[in-house]
Amino acid sequence: DRSIKIAPSILASDFANFGAEIEAVEAQGADWIHVDVMDGHFVPNITFGPETCKAIRPHIKGVMDVHLMIAPVDPYIEAFAASGADIITAHAEAGPHIHRTLQAIRGAGAKAGLALNPGTPVEAVDYLLDMVDLICVMTVNPGFGGQKFIQSQIAKVEALRAKVGDRPIHIEIDGGVTPVTAPLVAAAGADVLVAGSAVFGGGSVADPAPYGENIRAI
Ligand code: DX5
Ligand code: ZN
Repeated sequence: DRSIKIAPSILASDFANFGAEIEAVEAQGADWIHVDVMDGHFVPNITFGPETCKAIRPHIKGVMDVHLMIAPVDPYIEAFAASGADIITAHAEAGPHIHRTLQAIRGAGAKAGLALNPGTPVEAVDYLLDMVDLICVMTVNPGFGGQKFIQSQIAKVEALRAKVGDRPIHIEIDGGVTPVTAPLVAAAGADVLVAGSAVFGGGSVADPAPYGENIRAI
């Protein structure tokens, strides 16, 4: 299904109210919920771990899309799978054994995602296409929300779509997605758009209508 799906990142929501934020943004039209896990080591910021994922799972009706910005990854795969993640995405740069990591994610019963940092060439996917259900093109350097979209990644998305062809692999964009950049990456072949500040900006749990307006604007 190549229709465009919007995946709001709870990184840009109220950390004291994840359950209510998720329910509000789903009611306003979110397709997936994107969950950014950061360890202060692979990326220069810390968010939360598998216990938080488990706690928010019952509040998510749709797809729980967990983006692991952690190294090492392998010791934590079972815990994130047990937390109820539908998709677990690991970074190609997070260790020397991404093939093994992707195998372990599927082995734990989740769909496997592969994320590429902006500086990583698209050829990093070449021997992994039969191992992945999603490829995430980072259009910012991971670690923080609200950064500027890196234009050079559009050509990477086009090259990735050519490699993926009609295989049932989602192409996800993460970082700097706005009403201006979303059409560019959609035209380049992406089908899942992560958006943090562009969705949660201007609204709140008490006044969630802007979330819906923001989603429709993307
Ligand atoms: C960055 C995260 C993104 C981030 C996107 O490390 O992976 O998911 O939340 O935030 P915006 O949409 O604000 O660029
Ligand atoms: Zn992310």
